[in-house]
Amino acid sequence: MNTLINKLTDMDLNIVATFLLAIMLWPRVTSGVLTSVDPPTDLQVIDPGHLGPLHIHWKAPLSLTSKMLCVVRYKLSYCNIDSTNCKRVITRQLKHTDVFNLNKGIIVKIQTIVKEHCTNGSELHSDWIEKVFWPSLEGHVDSKVKNLQCIVYNMEFMDCLWENGTNAPHDINYRLHYWHHKLDQVMECKNYIKSQGHNVGCHFYKDSLIEFSDFNICINGTSGTGPVRPAYYVLQLQDLVKPAAPYKINVTASKNGTIYLQWEPPAGKIKSHCLEYEIRFSRKDSDWESKVLLEETTFTFLNVTVKTKFCVRLRATVNMYCADNSFWSDWSPTQCLQDYPAEEENAIIKLNLLGELILLTALASITLVLLVSILGCWIRWKRSFAKRKFNMLLTEETKSIKERNCLDC
Ligand SMILES: *[C@@H]1O[C@H](CO)[C@@H](O)[C@H](O)[C@H]1NC(C)=O
Ligand SMILES: *[C@@H]1O[C@H](CO)[C@@H](O)[C@H](O)[C@H]1NC(C)=O
Ligand SMILES: *[C@@H]1O[C@H](CO)[C@@H](O)[C@H](O)[C@H]1NC(C)=O
Repeated sequence: MNTLINKLTDMDLNIVATFLLAIMLWPRVTSGVLTSVDPPTDLQVIDPGHLGPLHIHWKAPLSLTSKMLCVVRYKLSYCNIDSTNCKRVITRQLKHTDVFNLNKGIIVKIQTIVKEHCTNGSELHSDWIEKVFWPSLEGHVDSKVKNLQCIVYNMEFMDCLWENGTNAPHDINYRLHYWHHKLDQVMECKNYIKSQGHNVGCHFYKDSLIEFSDFNICINGTSGTGPVRPAYYVLQLQDLVKPAAPYKINVTASKNGTIYLQWEPPAGKIKSHCLEYEIRFSRKDSDWESKVLLEETTFTFLNVTVKTKFCVRLRATVNMYCADNSFWSDWSPTQCLQDYPAEEENAIIKLNLLGELILLTALASITLVLLVSILGCWIRWKRSFAKRKFNMLLTEETKSIKERNCLDC
């Protein structure tokens, strides 16, 4: 019984003490004025193994956990270790994800920011805390691939080619791995492009491509002499498109020196409003002039001097409204116009007339021949018929003459 009372009194005392403390601190808590703020704690950088994205996590400073009214924000600053161009982000969350260049170490800094209700109206910043993240950088730096070039051909497939590192061991075998947000896990290249038994590139089919999203690549490899330094790349595939060349190009000219050019956009997945064309044309044999057109697929050249040789070729690219970058297509075959319609049209008309004339003559001749032969046959038949009749008459007459003669005799 005694102990129970003692316990109760202890509890009561505790409650009273807390209450008194609360009263003492009341003005500070209600006015909520902070004069300083602590940095966040437990900063962590986590690599999910997606060849670029890293998750950054942290916890709120302990001194702020009880202050429900405070608007607490965190300012992050992160970049590669030797870079001065750090990215800054302000967030109210306790985590942040971004894509990093994993070819070098990464430094992440964070501080707490409070303002409004918790402070005197001014903004309070804590000290920075930082964390350095080291991706796996084993192998000599000169063993890693260089000059990776990826081209997405007409939005149909992609070829990536690379060169051996400057000091790559002769037995090196590079391997390409890739990831984007639609994949559950990192994939390895399915179709290596090979040269002398070594992987020098990767061919991607349409179904493994993705636009307007990061396409992360890691090329590492193996060698009998030791580890190979991995190389990381983050691509935006819509900026690496090389369209097919424009085709079905029609060049027509009219008598007054106007030349009409008409073509069709390269067939495929690239929308026609995303294209831009360059027309190169020459009015003589040597100097080429250029003209760049957005979207249109026709062009008219006025006042072209009749009787000069006119040549034209075209190429296409993705325009600035659909991508930040693009490759030019190959040039279409050069089309030349040498005969101008002044003569050409007449020539065609003459040719046509001649053609019709020949046809008519031929028809007439055939009809004539047919008629003549039919007539001939008919005449012959008629004649032979007449002859036979005459012969019959003749024989009859001879008979009767003979008979008459006989009667006479
Ligand atoms: C509150 O702000 C005023 C002026 O803006 C300043 O004089 C005063 O020292 C500040 N008090 C605290 C506790 O920061
Ligand atoms: C190459 O990178 C991939 C993807 O990160 C990894 O799964 C693989 O183990 C690495 N290979 C070597 C030899 O390091
Ligand atoms: C070019 O001319 C041909 C024949 O006159 C026609 O069939 C074709 O549709 C034209 N092409 C274009 C792109 O207009």
